[in-house]
Amino acid sequence: MDGAKFAELRIDGKAFNFPIIIGSEGEKAIDISNLRKETGYITLDPSFANTGACCSEITYIDGERGILRYRGIPIEELAEKRLFIEVAYLLLHGNLPDENQYKQFSILLNEHSLLHEDMRHLFDGFPRGSHPMHIMSTMLNSMATFYPNVDTLSLSEDIDVTATRLISTFRTMAAFAYKKSIGQPPVYPRPDLTYCANFLNMMFDSPVNPYTIDAEIVEVMNLLFILYADHEQNCSTTTVRTIGSAQVNLYATISAGVSALSGPLHGGANQAVIEMLSKIRSGGYSVDQFIEMAKNKNNPVKLMGFGHRVYKNYDPRAKIIKEATVRILKKLDIKDTLLDIAMELESKALSDSYFVERKLYPNVDFYSGILYRALGFPTNMFTVLFALGRLPGWIAHWKEMVSDKNSKIVRPRQIYTGRTLTHLK
Ligand code: CMC
Repeated sequence: MDGAKFAELRIDGKAFNFPIIIGSEGEKAIDISNLRKETGYITLDPSFANTGACCSEITYIDGERGILRYRGIPIEELAEKRLFIEVAYLLLHGNLPDENQYKQFSILLNEHSLLHEDMRHLFDGFPRGSHPMHIMSTMLNSMATFYPNVDTLSLSEDIDVTATRLISTFRTMAAFAYKKSIGQPPVYPRPDLTYCANFLNMMFDSPVNPYTIDAEIVEVMNLLFILYADHEQNCSTTTVRTIGSAQVNLYATISAGVSALSGPLHGGANQAVIEMLSKIRSGGYSVDQFIEMAKNKNNPVKLMGFGHRVYKNYDPRAKIIKEATVRILKKLDIKDTLLDIAMELESKALSDSYFVERKLYPNVDFYSGILYRALGFPTNMFTVLFALGRLPGWIAHWKEMVSDKNSKIVRPRQIYTGRTLTHLK
């Protein structure tokens, strides 16, 4: 046996060998695809903390060292030098677009930026105050009825149109949902504006109060979406891969990803952070009391925006967002006491042995909400912004999964612990 290539498992004195897989960055795995066939055993790994569900070429994370790369390129470089649309292209196609590819992608994004006009009526059916994440997942699901060709999608031809339509109309839908919630008429996309400028304009322009596009704000919107664009096998991406493995149409698949992202332990944390900071500011608790509550195992309270399944070091995205938050608040001359509370929380948590020993650091959601508030977004739109950024990543993973010849329907097993055979009386 080649020790470098196989792992030996001994059960009841019998040895079994399983291949060792090494990734391009040296990550190691034991391929147990034949485990049950050869031994009769399965692995038990609740929450999949030790389970690699696939091999992927899209995103690399080293959680111990705080490294994040898309297609090999460090997140810091992409965030500084590229547009969100270029990064979306990189995730979807494997390379950054050249000039011509960028032009073609922009044309396609513009062509597919309009929402099907009949979909506008669907917004009227939602009760006032509906959470925009619920609206978004419902609207996405409905898209297959407006664009039924998604059911016979061919990877080579139609995928670019469907992917582009998703990336472009999601932005239009998000802005329409917001406009609807505040009782204002929708603002349509404009062909002369870039992706992020268009989104900001659809969100904040109104017939009586024209929106002035500011290049630095557009830049920071690009930066935020780039930071969200992918994060390998997180909960929502795993949802997308799982649902997609049953050959569900792409719109419904992405709708499921949106639902997974909405949870407060996942993308919904950016909203939860602001609610937590506001509670502290309104005198509910002091920073010290909140930290004590988060440490108390009998209290369900957690320090929102802290901790991560993979990062056991500062989340590189949080570092970039913190800098951008301070910069934009200064530019807009905004004094937000929530930022002072967040910084005090961070500093106290990072010198508290509970957080130090468990390697709990601020994650991508800790500072982002403060920045969104400064840009004028209401709290319930924060997770929608996360979803908008994450879309290219979800689609890239779906594409990778369906083009993998070895892909099968996702179907884990279980260890049954219920009653043994019980006959009816
Ligand atoms: N506050 C207090 N204690 C925490 C926190 C926290 N935010 N996060 C983890 N812990 C504790 C946890 O109780 C456990 O303690 P012990 O070892 O004594 O039982 C230990 O740290 C290890 O945590 P875990 O629950 O095993 O970690 P996990 O990998 O299962 O969960 C997490 C990761 C992100 C769900 C969790 O850290 C958390 O709930 N954080 C707050 C919510 C949040 O900010 N979510 C956004 C995540 S990043 C963006 C995204 O994925 O969308």
